[in-house]
Amino acid sequence: MPGKKRILSGMRPTGKLHLGHLVGALENWVNLQSEYENYHLIADYHALTTNLDSSNIYANSFDMLIDWLAAGIDPKSSPMFRQSQVKEHAELQLIFSMLVTTARLERNPTLKEQVRDLEMENISIGHLGYPVLQAADILLYKGEVVPVGEDQLPHIEITREIARKFNAQYSPSQPVFPEPEGKITRFARLPGLDGKRMSKSIGNTILLSDSPDVVQKKMRTAVTDPQKVRKGDPGRPEICLVYTYHQKFNPDETQAIEQDCRSGKLGCVDCKMKVMQKVCDYLSPFRDRRQYYESHSEEVKDILRDGEIRAKEIAHNTMTEVHEAMKLG
Ligand code: TRP
Repeated sequence: MPGKKRILSGMRPTGKLHLGHLVGALENWVNLQSEYENYHLIADYHALTTNLDSSNIYANSFDMLIDWLAAGIDPKSSPMFRQSQVKEHAELQLIFSMLVTTARLERNPTLKEQVRDLEMENISIGHLGYPVLQAADILLYKGEVVPVGEDQLPHIEITREIARKFNAQYSPSQPVFPEPEGKITRFARLPGLDGKRMSKSIGNTILLSDSPDVVQKKMRTAVTDPQKVRKGDPGRPEICLVYTYHQKFNPDETQAIEQDCRSGKLGCVDCKMKVMQKVCDYLSPFRDRRQYYESHSEEVKDILRDGEIRAKEIAHNTMTEVHEAMKLG
């Protein structure tokens, strides 16, 4: 029987995770656990590309790891580790950086979007090379499948190009690297409460650690159809953010909600309260598990240590193959 395919997934440690992370990525990671062999990377070096201050990176990584565990990632089957602790990431990144042109990296739409959003005038080599490090992250573990948000697909494409180039150049008869595929979910981009991309810097998130009170308060601010001013006015679910949330968190009632919104029978305040309750139900088991891990930090540290030992072993083996293929042994 063929072995399970391998997944490599990762996130940058930018602090506590929000609902968009859970719906767009983590839920997917958890569901894929039985079908694939999983490696989960904490991209702490990648975090430096947009913020040089490293003083919070460890705390943020630790917080993110707790969120992952609370979401249901099983540390026994799925190692979790920090990029900075496995030196081979940097080494493979260096080798890969010879296989891609600066022009190719400058065309990267994800980078262009960041430069525009953050109004950046200059970018560092590290930032330009972000996808090269990401390619090293994935290929060091020979990841075949990469669950990501839509915005990351251009990086997977660059990873495939680098894998192809390496194989053609150094190991044409027996490829060292697979050409990984990106895997996106239907809710890959759960919008924030204002309808824009959910992001901490915009302040439109629901955090996974938010209490029901906070969720309720935030949900009240969610935007709805601007033409539906009061109960009785007919609404347009297709353009309503709260309806998107119903589709995700309240699938059984969406049909009724759609009808009652269109007819004007259902007002936006009631509609928001309904979905708020569902979001709280959805988050409740998560919150309990989060509390457990918060109060068992030694256990979390052991999980990280164990994940890093396992990751290092694979990384070491891949680099041996790389050196052999390149005749650098
Ligand atoms: N670039 C990814 C993001 O911002 C994070 C990341 C880094 C990653 N290395 C990775 C994702 C490897 C998947 C695989 O979301």
